[in-house]
Amino acid sequence: MQTSIENKPDPNKLLDWYDYNAREMPWRIGPKKRLSGIRPNPYHVWLSEIMLQQTTVAYVKPYFTKFTTKWPTIFDLANAKDEEVMGAWAGLGYYARARNLLKCARLIAKEKSGKFPQAFDALLKLPGVGPYTASAIASIAYDIPETVVDGNVERVISRIFDVHTELPKAKKELSFLAKQLTPKIRSGDYAQAIMDLGATICKPKVPSCEICPWENHCDSRKAGTAKSLPRKLKKTKKPVRYGIAYFVERVDGAILTEIRQPNGLLGGMLSLPSSAWGDSFRDDPPIDGDWEIKDTIVKHTFTHFDLNLKVMHVTVESEQTPKRGQFLKPDEFNPNNLPTVMRKVWQSIKY
Ligand code: ADE
Repeated sequence: MQTSIENKPDPNKLLDWYDYNAREMPWRIGPKKRLSGIRPNPYHVWLSEIMLQQTTVAYVKPYFTKFTTKWPTIFDLANAKDEEVMGAWAGLGYYARARNLLKCARLIAKEKSGKFPQAFDALLKLPGVGPYTASAIASIAYDIPETVVDGNVERVISRIFDVHTELPKAKKELSFLAKQLTPKIRSGDYAQAIMDLGATICKPKVPSCEICPWENHCDSRKAGTAKSLPRKLKKTKKPVRYGIAYFVERVDGAILTEIRQPNGLLGGMLSLPSSAWGDSFRDDPPIDGDWEIKDTIVKHTFTHFDLNLKVMHVTVESEQTPKRGQFLKPDEFNPNNLPTVMRKVWQSIKY
């Protein structure tokens, strides 16, 4: 590590700033309440942090409220039906996270009497909990001085120390530097303060350096390079995959559905039948009929590829048996239980 950590900024300055500028979040116990002895609910901290992986605070808020209203405790969530939780998750994407969320809730409820462990290493063993989330739970829920490093923190740290190494190569160096700043007290407030600083002041395109509590200790401010940091390796374009979604309506209003293969993408989720997704459209209808090709192509972006789905529609008689899948009657079928990509297909037909 070559970056100098002399002239390092004072964590207390950031905490003083946070005391007056902390953002309100439904899962957060703000600095004044924490100071008066109120502790955050580890279930809320864990749930919010899992939801916040790769998603914004504003987007997560209604989901968090929905989950904690339906399932006020970790025991309630652990006892929930898989499909209900997957349905409530729809729209947050990355459904493996929802499956791990349930696995983790059941493990904590059954094997840990409903209590989340405190130590980083023990947290890291839980399903769906990586180094970021383990640090976030340890620090925010239990005030253990672990260092939280998300995209906001990487940006703040790269600017404070004027790090020009490109991400993702810079990750180790930025984590190392972030650790040097983490205080031994008020660790939970500090973790959230540095994330709030990144989100509200040290913003990606237009940082508000003139009101930053660390302005006088920021190397990139001095060098005039703040706006260009962190440097990032140019992303290669995602590959495109093609598939066909089959919208089958029976004359009595039932809809043909299928459960996706457990181990693949959107594994175990309720879906409309579709062909395999590959480098061309390959027709594989789940039932015989007089198919109509719809004009719209449904587009959806996954982590590793963009999907183009052609949509086909057919109405069939009551006696017909599908080659695969299961008909659900209108009172059994809830489009909200479909993953986002299939809800888009549903909407393309219904609206
Ligand atoms: N991003 C992820 N978790 C956060 C938190 N607890 N506070 C602010 N931003 C966050």
